Amino acid sequence: MSLPPSEIVYLDNGATTAVDPAVFDSMVPLFLSDFGNASSSHRLGVAARSAIDAARRTFADLLGCSTAEIVFTSGGTEADNLAMRGVADLARGRHAVMTDIEHPAILSQREVLTARGFDVTVVPVERDGRVLPEAIASAVTGDTALVAVMLANNEIGTVQPIEAIGAAIKRRNPDVAFVVDAVQAFTKMPLPIHAAHIDLLALSSHKIHGPKGVGALYVRKGTRLAPQVTGGSQEHGIRPGTENVPGIVGFARAAAIASEHAAAEQQRMRELRDHLIAEAVRRLPPVTLNGHPEHRLCNNASLNFHGAPAQVLLQMAEAEGLFASAGAACHASSRKPSHVLQAVGLDADEGTLRLTLSRHTTDRDIERALDILDRIVPRARQIGAR
Ligand SMILES: Cc1ncc(COP(=O)(O)O)c(C=O)c1O
Repeated sequence: MSLPPSEIVYLDNGATTAVDPAVFDSMVPLFLSDFGNASSSHRLGVAARSAIDAARRTFADLLGCSTAEIVFTSGGTEADNLAMRGVADLARGRHAVMTDIEHPAILSQREVLTARGFDVTVVPVERDGRVLPEAIASAVTGDTALVAVMLANNEIGTVQPIEAIGAAIKRRNPDVAFVVDAVQAFTKMPLPIHAAHIDLLALSSHKIHGPKGVGALYVRKGTRLAPQVTGGSQEHGIRPGTENVPGIVGFARAAAIASEHAAAEQQRMRELRDHLIAEAVRRLPPVTLNGHPEHRLCNNASLNFHGAPAQVLLQMAEAEGLFASAGAACHASSRKPSHVLQAVGLDADEGTLRLTLSRHTTDRDIERALDILDRIVPRARQIGAR
């Protein structure tokens, strides 16, 4: 039996978010009346082109870069892939470095790069999910073409010391392209593009109350990047194909809305997150927090309810109206142990519940989530003990 939407507590915003109604409204005309192809020379085409131009301007202003440095893609996965492959194709060096908790969109490039003649060094993170800047830097050689470090992890929420990492790798080899996946971090914290010497930065719309299937890649001016799709001149020739105009416009609207009250919203989410963590730890011992206690996303509470099998917890939570995930959404169907939980020394089958908040999460949502956890965790532990 499915619960009415008003009865649902949605704490799986790390997987995806609801589209903001204002974002939806901004997209509707681009489907129904202003539906032109941005490459057409007539009035409808010109309107589509100027809508894309305005969206690109929004991102350039938010990121503090030029419009020529923004490439729209079909999402975070494509942005990550484009960054890695696009750099690899034109680089002189044949070596790449990444951490062992990258998103699969980056980690899967190990095989791709290896097939292109690269050596790939995978650097392990510490138990709190942080990678030591000197550990990354010491992996960099004169032959290193690119280094990929995500700004914030999607499962355990740990935020990396990205400025120290950027400085350390550029000291070792100034020609390295620094690729940063900021899909989870975007709108949850400032993006230190210049301070961290970032050359390529991946973003996704559906994590910030925008539509699915659209993202962006920041490409620092002067970065050599080969297109991975051919057939047109759209997106500065880097990502050809007729533009997803409604998606791009909706993504820009979502980013603009999030930036309006970003600091206050981040603080509000942080307080709700901390309350959720503190109460879960107090009421349902033994509970531990995965990831770093301070250097973590303001919307991520990844909790280990010891003794409660994760899948049992998840099913019980959903039956009570609480939507969460065990690790990342992309692992849910595969049931493979999460590479992130393994990397920080956790048994993936232990009771990890990833509860992720958003701008839409209310105080009442958190209280209801805690009430549901009160009911289900003891029951799940009984099952785990059998
Ligand atoms: C850190 C991270 N990178 C990349 C992606 C992929 O983004 P998209 O779903 O837009 O392809 C995700 C989505 O889960 C993510 O969390």
